[in-house]
Amino acid sequence: MKTTVLSTASDRQAALSGAEIIRAGGLVAFPTETVYGLGANGLDGRAVDRIFEAKGRPNDNPLILHVAEKEDAFWLWAGEPPFARTLMDTFWPGPLTLIYYRSDMVPDQVTAGLDTVAVRMPDSEAARALIAASGVPIAAPSANLSGKPSPTTAEHVLQDMDGRIPLVLDGGPCRYGVESTVLSLVGVPTILRPGAITKEMLAAVLGEVALSPSILAPLAAGEKAASPGMKYKHYAPDAQVLVVVGEPQAAAARLSALYDGFAAQGKRAFIAATREALPYYGDRRCALMGTRQDPTTLCSRLFALLRELDSRADVILCEGVGTESTGLAFMNRLLRAAGFRVEYL
Ligand code: TXA
Ligand code: MG
Repeated sequence: MKTTVLSTASDRQAALSGAEIIRAGGLVAFPTETVYGLGANGLDGRAVDRIFEAKGRPNDNPLILHVAEKEDAFWLWAGEPPFARTLMDTFWPGPLTLIYYRSDMVPDQVTAGLDTVAVRMPDSEAARALIAASGVPIAAPSANLSGKPSPTTAEHVLQDMDGRIPLVLDGGPCRYGVESTVLSLVGVPTILRPGAITKEMLAAVLGEVALSPSILAPLAAGEKAASPGMKYKHYAPDAQVLVVVGEPQAAAARLSALYDGFAAQGKRAFIAATREALPYYGDRRCALMGTRQDPTTLCSRLFALLRELDSRADVILCEGVGTESTGLAFMNRLLRAAGFRVEYL
């Protein structure tokens, strides 16, 4: 299959071309403010099956339905979720996914057999134009091969999906670079996956908000995942990723020692550094991620950096940070990419 790329900035027909494919049951990769999604008609179970095939995704991992208007979410849930109106008015359109009991309209393929469904309204104009032109909610996971870092540019999508899907809509680099915050509204509101909408921001609206224990820890053997996506190897490049969490100077000293050890074994190491620690690495090969002052900058570079360094390094040595605000989303993705190989100093 030939994969066409259309720019959403320069081609006003791009959304219509995408919608034609979606309505015919095909797949379209499209930009959102978080990461690129791989979309299909979310009301057509057979179309949704093709997403799992193209990604090589385990079919017990449910998908998010994307809507163009707030009101469209209520068709997909069985009744109105508690707090939903306030959350939607505060954070939609934006990187917040809400989970509640599903309605009969939602095919089993979307929810992987669960009795709940995840819904979000993206802040990307290009994404909403595609959904609106399609006239159906669009089911979309991140547009990477299952297990790989999520794509934050159209180029990344092609690295994984070229020849597997008919169309990529190119809207340039994604603003946030990590996937949406996933919040369950069944029972006590619980964050299943952290993102740019932080626990602190949600607590300001909800009062109490719980964190799923699997956010920073691997699941224990036999433990059931609240969010099935949490149980798989995730975001991992082929290169080995090692994480050191500590103050800038101490972390840089430890990572430099690891780097020199790998170099002595003839391995190509590369350091992913924060601005604060960058001066302490000497002439070792480093890539700048962003600043500890604002972990959002680290989030927005992480996946792109893992992809870029993958072909240039055998080992990626990465600084970890604290888990306040968007530091939690950063550490959630980084620890998975590292297979939880982490040292706390
Ligand atoms: O920002 C995003 O959310 C991106 C863009 C494309 O919108 N999408 C995305 O989709 O990250 P995906 O499939 O890669 O991640 C969805 C996560 C998975 O961890 C999945 O297990 C969880 O949401 N999820 C979906 N439906 C669920 C449900 N009913 N109950 C619990 N977890 C659910
Ligand atoms: Mg994903």
